[in-house]
Amino acid sequence: MTQTEDKTLSMGDTPLVPIEKIVSLCKRRGFVYPNSEIYGGVSGIYDFGPLGVELRNNIRRYWWWSMVQTNDNVVGIEGNIITHPRVWEASGHVENFVDRLVDCKNCKRRWRVDHLPAENLEQNRCPACGGELTEPRVFNLMMETYIGVVEGERMKTYLRGEACQNIYLDYDNVLKSSRMQIPFGICQIGKAFRNEVTPGNFLFRQREFEQWDLQFFVHPSQMQQWFDYWKERRFEWYQGIINHKDRIHFRAHGSDELAHYAKQAFDIEYKSILGWQEWEGIHWRQDWDLSRHSQFSGQDLSYTDPETKEKYIPWIVETSGGVDRTFLNLLLDAYEEEPDPSGKEPRTVLRLHPMLAPVKVAVLPLQKNKEELVSTAKSIHKRLQRLMVSQYDDVANIGRRYRRQDEIGTPYCVTVDFQTLEDSTVTVRERDGMTQIRLAIEELPAYLLERVTWQ
Ligand code: GAP
Repeated sequence: MTQTEDKTLSMGDTPLVPIEKIVSLCKRRGFVYPNSEIYGGVSGIYDFGPLGVELRNNIRRYWWWSMVQTNDNVVGIEGNIITHPRVWEASGHVENFVDRLVDCKNCKRRWRVDHLPAENLEQNRCPACGGELTEPRVFNLMMETYIGVVEGERMKTYLRGEACQNIYLDYDNVLKSSRMQIPFGICQIGKAFRNEVTPGNFLFRQREFEQWDLQFFVHPSQMQQWFDYWKERRFEWYQGIINHKDRIHFRAHGSDELAHYAKQAFDIEYKSILGWQEWEGIHWRQDWDLSRHSQFSGQDLSYTDPETKEKYIPWIVETSGGVDRTFLNLLLDAYEEEPDPSGKEPRTVLRLHPMLAPVKVAVLPLQKNKEELVSTAKSIHKRLQRLMVSQYDDVANIGRRYRRQDEIGTPYCVTVDFQTLEDSTVTVRERDGMTQIRLAIEELPAYLLERVTWQ
């Protein structure tokens, strides 16, 4: 069964959200648009709109804060997308980064061999129509590009197929320039490119996407300890940003599915309408990367322990996840259509963690035609805007405006009403429980900051 066909899943009493609802919300409210849409679009490539870019930035910043800023033994880099072509020979991607595909001779559907159910594989039959399948063909996923302008002198290289390669390339420079000692880690967030043969399921499998990586360099004798440590830390991190804590788990890779660089691997998987799917990989890369780059570049990348003088190639624990999968999973996890007790239209609400929500607060004058309400609301908005993403909205009745904010996940709405003009207090409405409190305008910044920022 393919990912899209698996529509029957449910988790306890909470229905899993159809992906189409998320696609529609994303387009309607400015989270995600199809790339080059006016030209018909390109499959597996998307752009992020005004709310999408805020959400992405918050997701990235929170990851960076958790992984780099708050760990003394981790530093960050930002490497380039284009590298020397030899990098991809050393990494094994030119040779091994392939998908095996079969086509149905009858209905012409194309399948990845590793996605075929066992019985279809055995019988060589199409899962959709039962037709006969062709022999597997091998496709490399690396995207090619060229450096230089003169025909014949141009150098063929690749857009990076996994962002982490820059970390190995810069490892020695970081070691020398930052006075780090093993064990230590290097993080990066950056774009990766793959000629996916079956892109789909919206942001889940794209051709251009963004990864976050930690590469943690250790002495071989400490590999297990650090592997276990980061595996648990990453799991806790994802649990901390979702509502449905029972929708993530670990899945160990079987020996037949390990990537060419991994000796052991666990996926952190999230359960959505697509089934249980990989969100982040925790990989035991051992000395594969630094050994190969030493061999291919001729530069010795071994480490000498400053105290014992022992010389060795460090082993690597990798945690590698996707910014886009996080974006998608968070929307799938947060989206809810809540029935209205009075029988009106259900309330669509995105229960995003307040620290990740794209808009933190909306400031709403109770009425648009009362100048004092409008000017007070605008001045509150202007003040809050310097501290967090704030929206001012005076269009439509207050109920509709609350709904508009619920739909994009805004955790707080501040309403300026007639009492405000008398005692300088406002109503603060919270998104999830829809509870309201009265607060002095002066207290608003501290009240909100405490709830929408991480510390
Ligand atoms: N450096 C290791 C590596 O690249 P991976 O499992 O191929 O490992 C890591 O990718 C993460 O990148 C995945 O867990 C997933 O979140 C994300 N990812 C991989 N391919 C993707 C794609 N085509 N579209 C969106 N995200 C993708």
